[in-house]
Amino acid sequence: MRLFDNSLLDSLSDNGLALAQKLENKTAVIGIAGLGYVGMPIALEFARMGYQTIGVDPSKWKIEKLNRAENYIEDLKDEEVAEVIHSGIFKAYDNYEPLAEADVIYICVPTPFNDNKDPDLAYVLSSGEGIATILKKGQLVILKSTTFPGTTEDYLIPILNKSGLKPTSDYFIAFSPERVDPGNKVFNTQNTPIVVGGIDPDSSILAALTNSKVVQKVYMVDNPKVAELEKLLENIFRSVNIALVNELALLCERMGGINVWEVVEAASTKPFGYMKFVPGPGVGGHCIPIDPYYLSWLAREYDFETKFITLAANVNESMPYHVVNVVIKEIANQPVSLANARVLIVGVSFKKNVKDLRHSPAEAVIARLMEAGVGAIEITDPWVEADGYKAAGKTFYTKEITPEMIASYNVVLLVTDHDDFDIPTIVEHAAYVVDTRNMAKDITKGREKIYLLGSSEKKERIRMEH
Ligand SMILES: NC(=O)c1ccc[n+]([C@@H]2O[C@H](COP(=O)([O-])OP(=O)(O)OC[C@H]3O[C@@H](n4cnc5c(N)ncnc54)[C@H](O)[C@@H]3O)[C@@H](O)[C@H]2O)c1
Repeated sequence: MRLFDNSLLDSLSDNGLALAQKLENKTAVIGIAGLGYVGMPIALEFARMGYQTIGVDPSKWKIEKLNRAENYIEDLKDEEVAEVIHSGIFKAYDNYEPLAEADVIYICVPTPFNDNKDPDLAYVLSSGEGIATILKKGQLVILKSTTFPGTTEDYLIPILNKSGLKPTSDYFIAFSPERVDPGNKVFNTQNTPIVVGGIDPDSSILAALTNSKVVQKVYMVDNPKVAELEKLLENIFRSVNIALVNELALLCERMGGINVWEVVEAASTKPFGYMKFVPGPGVGGHCIPIDPYYLSWLAREYDFETKFITLAANVNESMPYHVVNVVIKEIANQPVSLANARVLIVGVSFKKNVKDLRHSPAEAVIARLMEAGVGAIEITDPWVEADGYKAAGKTFYTKEITPEMIASYNVVLLVTDHDDFDIPTIVEHAAYVVDTRNMAKDITKGREKIYLLGSSEKKERIRMEH
């Protein structure tokens, strides 16, 4: 691995040098396929740097919004998106034709899994098909979607080759994973280092040069596969460590006298060799629940079971089931049947202070509560838009919190720790609270109503009372 610097441009071929010169004098046109959480910030960065930028996305509503100079990505400033559209430096389309003008094309499309949790490359492949129709000599393609090692070389390149062009001799291609962390106020596109792995040295250098225009530090690795696997390692590292504290949380609930949150706080005082992860009702978002399966699927091809990685994913997936069991026990303590019970879910985004609802633990919790026959499930989350939150085949509309409303539920379940929630009011008026995020940690009054994930405090209190 090496850190990119401009001295590497000296080793470029003539073809590569032509693109490098365009990038250096800002005449290069930057294309982005997929204008979502990843593609839009990249488009905005390049447009603001003065590069003509072309975005494509099949989503009609996104293109219509952009053409009205409206923003739909919460981390981007509305006025900055409006400015690049109004000035004409950024243009958005619903088809690939305009990308013929691009010198560099970033692919930022979804990489979900299917019902069997096998990788679904359909979006990457369809994007490749689109690019193949307009690919021209000297273009650089950079795949950014998170995926398993081999995707760039074994899946994307064969599709791009349908254009009649060949990588290395005709076009350049690299994999460069995305590290954007929506909602992060410290690390953004510019100050988060990035990794690139090209199919050949020219591709690596050109992809690093392109990224270096909007990112301060770019590291070059040997090939696309290294870059593909390092991204999976980043996210699987999180999955494994979250699973570790989730397992400890379950153990602490069984043992007496240990609050897992205090254990984690205490361990976090160590200034080296430890990184803080906290338990919760499950993992969510577009990465942590999915990426471990991308690797375990590939490993099977090599007669290799990623036992450790799969076990961690299973522990995390078991958490919503555990939370629902706790809620059902809390309902059983009350003179109400499950069919007549009312549960309020507080927070449904996959993490705090963001709108992103994808694969949120709330989804699994709601589905399991419905399966269990809980009569009424309602949500409150100021980050949910007017068209509601879809889970388990139903649409849930956010309820405004009032003391009377809180008092009307048998259990109030704290799932997402948005800063907006007034926890003292919630606890004061709730009958029972199940806290999966330690949101009520500072509450002393009404503490007896709270079941805290990873703590046996409620069980012990009941034991002492009897
Ligand atoms: N969101 C994150 O925080 C994050 C972080 C790191 C990596 N990633 C990875 O980046 C990739 C994109 O994620 P995202 O969050 O931006 O997804 P997203 O759903 O927000 O955006 C993807 C966009 O691609 C569009 N699209 C679908 N098919 C297309 C096609 N054939 N051509 C052009 N556009 C197409 C969709 O309409 C959508 O607007 C995924 O692989 C994801 O795992 C995401």
